[in-house]
Amino acid sequence: MMIRTENKGDIESVHQLLLRAFGGQQEIILMERLRKDPEIDPELSIVAEDDGIVVGHIMFSPATLDDGGTMHKVAALGPLAVLPEYQKRGVGRQLIAEGKKRCGAHGYPLVFLFGHKDYYPRFGFVQARAHGFEIRQFTVPDEVFMVAELQRGALESMQGEFRFHSSFEGLG
Ligand SMILES: CC(C)(COP(=O)(O)OP(=O)(O)OC[C@H]1O[C@@H](n2cnc3c(N)ncnc32)[C@H](O)[C@@H]1OP(=O)(O)O)[C@@H](O)C(=O)NCCC(=O)NCCS
Repeated sequence: MMIRTENKGDIESVHQLLLRAFGGQQEIILMERLRKDPEIDPELSIVAEDDGIVVGHIMFSPATLDDGGTMHKVAALGPLAVLPEYQKRGVGRQLIAEGKKRCGAHGYPLVFLFGHKDYYPRFGFVQARAHGFEIRQFTVPDEVFMVAELQRGALESMQGEFRFHSSFEGLG
């Protein structure tokens, strides 16, 4: 298994993977929008390759945290997908670990996501609202809005309103 940066030759495989993992077009549309934005860091679109097959993909996009005085740059995780026949073998775990490492190295203090409440806590994610973060962009239950720190102390020292990249809006 190789974990590496997505390249142009992977795009079609990543789209097929998203279709198979999620069963719809929303995540493909999201990836197409994100890739068009020059602000997106290509190193934060990461694939897992096994025997020449793209079996997993994870994306981290730039997002904001507004604490009322300062707009901080934070990261957002998503989408994350693993081919059904490769699930529950640690592929998602490796993609999250590599992505968190890269986001930390790029200076992001925190990474936010919407996700499965039983999955992400395994990887250091905690409920965001319980730590003083809010979101107005979308309406979501407390348990799916999660955050993990990438720089020690960031969960304690930061707070405010989180916003995903505008590519996440209007996806239905
Ligand atoms: C969610 C998903 C990315 C997990 O990927 P994966 O490669 O199967 O995950 P891993 O094998 O790394 O799982 C790590 C651990 O989490 C567990 N796990 C996997 N999926 C889980 C889930 N949905 N809920 C709770 N635990 C889960 C695994 O059993 C494993 O446990 P273990 O360490 O005790 O063995 C994958 O199932 C997927 O692509 N699902 C469809 C798309 C999707 O829902 N994406 C996430 C959107 S938030």
